[in-house]
Amino acid sequence: MKFDKNQYTVEELSLEGETIRFRAFRNLVYVEYPVDAKYQRMNIFVPECYYEDKSVNGYTLNSAPVFMPNQVGGYMPGELAEPGVGKHGKNQPNSIFRALQHGYVVAAPAIRGRTQKDENGVFTGKAPACVIDYKAAVRYLHYFSDELPGDESKIITNGTSAGGALSALMGASGNHPDYAGLLKDLGAADAGDGIFAASCYCPITNLEHADMAYEWQFQGVNEYYRRHMQMDEGGRPALSRENGRMTEEQIQTSADEAALFPEYVNSLGLKDADGNDLVLDENGDGTFKEYVESVILASAQKALEEGMDIADKTWLTIKGGKVTGMDFSEYVREITRMKTAPAFDALSMDSAENSLFGNAASDCCHFTDYSMKHSKTDGRMADLDVIRMLNPMNYIDDEKADTAKYWRIRHGECDRDTSLAISAILAVRLQSAGCKVDYQSPWNVPHSGDYDLEELFAWIDGMCKITKREEEIL
Ligand code: DHB
Repeated sequence: MKFDKNQYTVEELSLEGETIRFRAFRNLVYVEYPVDAKYQRMNIFVPECYYEDKSVNGYTLNSAPVFMPNQVGGYMPGELAEPGVGKHGKNQPNSIFRALQHGYVVAAPAIRGRTQKDENGVFTGKAPACVIDYKAAVRYLHYFSDELPGDESKIITNGTSAGGALSALMGASGNHPDYAGLLKDLGAADAGDGIFAASCYCPITNLEHADMAYEWQFQGVNEYYRRHMQMDEGGRPALSRENGRMTEEQIQTSADEAALFPEYVNSLGLKDADGNDLVLDENGDGTFKEYVESVILASAQKALEEGMDIADKTWLTIKGGKVTGMDFSEYVREITRMKTAPAFDALSMDSAENSLFGNAASDCCHFTDYSMKHSKTDGRMADLDVIRMLNPMNYIDDEKADTAKYWRIRHGECDRDTSLAISAILAVRLQSAGCKVDYQSPWNVPHSGDYDLEELFAWIDGMCKITKREEEIL
């Protein structure tokens, strides 16, 4: 493991009529004993003008924040990334291009995923490999911080969906000893893995409670649409064919799972910003549901103020330019269900998450008591320590973790991949723990990320300014 500051190329890239010049340090293997050296490596990119003593947005070679996006989706391997087009809009410059343009140093690690095997056919990227690799990459940045460009005390992770979940884990579990043994086995650098801030788009997280949260939200909607709207041949929107109706057994599972959710929510001791308890009664109603509704209402209000036409949303109550209420069931019916019950820990053990929780020997495992009990295969339960290491909720209030102070969580208003309750619980819990959390459910946004990079960067700049001021006062 090394970093040679003299090994780089200077490159130029033009997209959409805009040009960036950057210095690229590629293929930096971030552990001493890689299991999969193709993936346990990272690219670092730097605005080239920093080497000509120029500044961008007030940042210089040594003061620029380090933007650290991952490319993980579906808990599959995250590829080594480059400035280019992609993710949000096929021809739109990606977050790396935009971040360089904005003056950030970008550290983009590849990360192992659930489908990878070694030459003997042994799985090498099952949980917790994804979070271990991300942490190892952060340790590398801290370890070589004196030689690296950028301010490594300002690392901001970013990801979408499974990648958003990884970003949340990075934010929650900095330096926690749970991960230390596995990091040591890989020969990760002897440095910390804490980060400054976490940016999380629609995190598919808190997996062992995601099934119950999903049914709390979607129970009663028994039709499912694996994909939402697609264009038909004439360019008209049409529902995908991958749809159907849940079986009677799945409908029963939905009710069973929904019934488990209030006890879980109530066990968390959640409180809103004013200190009011956020709880649910046995029917799934109560102040927690009102909180989730308030997030959607705020989204609708913002859309209204930005001039969007939301009059067709008959589930909203709008009076005198103010969004005052909603019918949650109607809202859910409109956005539609994507997954059958149970949404994550499939009884047939064939979901992406079952595969995530597999191990060297078996491709898939269960990770909830409910699905283990009702399994249709003779599947095993995943190692409880591994399940624990994949859930940021376990680390937020743990004094052995250095939880990031700053969080930005975005979970689209019409996302159906996981319940809005999942991100809401994460946001509320972080807030109660003293973190600064910017949490919103942007209007009419489906399961996606990187769609508001200007706002994301403005948020990052704001935090860096606050921190600088705090440092000056001290
Ligand atoms: C992703 C989406 C899912 O619906 C899921 O269950 C896991 C991961 C993703 O897009 O990363």
